Amino acid sequence: MLEKSKTQTFYDRIADVHNLVLRINGYRRSVAKYLRSLDLDLDENSLVLDAGSGTGIVTLGFQSAGFRPKKSIALDLSFNSLKVAREQFEKDKKTDASNIAAVQGNVLELPFADETFDLILTCGVLEYVPLEAGLAELARVLKPGAKLVLIPVKPSFVGSVLEILYNFKTHSVEKTEEIARRWFNIVGNYKFPFNEPISWSKVIFLLEKK
Ligand SMILES: C[S@@+](CC[C@H](N)C(=O)[O-])C[C@H]1O[C@@H](n2cnc3c(N)ncnc32)[C@H](O)[C@@H]1O
Repeated sequence: MLEKSKTQTFYDRIADVHNLVLRINGYRRSVAKYLRSLDLDLDENSLVLDAGSGTGIVTLGFQSAGFRPKKSIALDLSFNSLKVAREQFEKDKKTDASNIAAVQGNVLELPFADETFDLILTCGVLEYVPLEAGLAELARVLKPGAKLVLIPVKPSFVGSVLEILYNFKTHSVEKTEEIARRWFNIVGNYKFPFNEPISWSKVIFLLEKK
């Protein structure tokens, strides 16, 4: 059996508490509102990946925005986080759990063929990996012209506190844009409204694969 990484062990331990925090602070509603505002060009044949899904908050937001692709995949290193995600998908009335698969895996070595996905969502995950390798791997499995909704932790006071609590490293906006341009066109930037708690730690880059 492969040895668990520190990150996996950490998220396996905190999955329930982390999920509770996310439920209280309205992340799901904020993500759903943003996704609803996009012209995502998805249909019943589309495949969607939530890369580093944790306990599934972004996939839940995607579902409550009304999107019903052929299949969504929630992928994460942490088995316990995926277990919590699975339970939530099954009991949530706005979610079609039958079309969501939870897969344990690493964003640096995704178990999917090149150009598989019509959309990738990723929130607070590339902070754990070298940005270039992470974006390259996401670009590999995304179809040309398809979108990546990248929701990184923004460099800020709250971001610095989270870096210590969650043991990750934020990437600067300039670096993120510079590296992203190797595979993507940057087609949107979004700042969450300040009255939404997600705005204190996250921003969004909307990227389109070249
Ligand atoms: C801050 S949490 C974010 C979870 C979720 N995207 C959200 O917004 O609530 C970071 C997640 O990234 C996962 N993670 C970290 N490194 C990873 C990797 N190399 N591959 C897959 N998942 C990873 C962790 O297990 C954890 O669930």
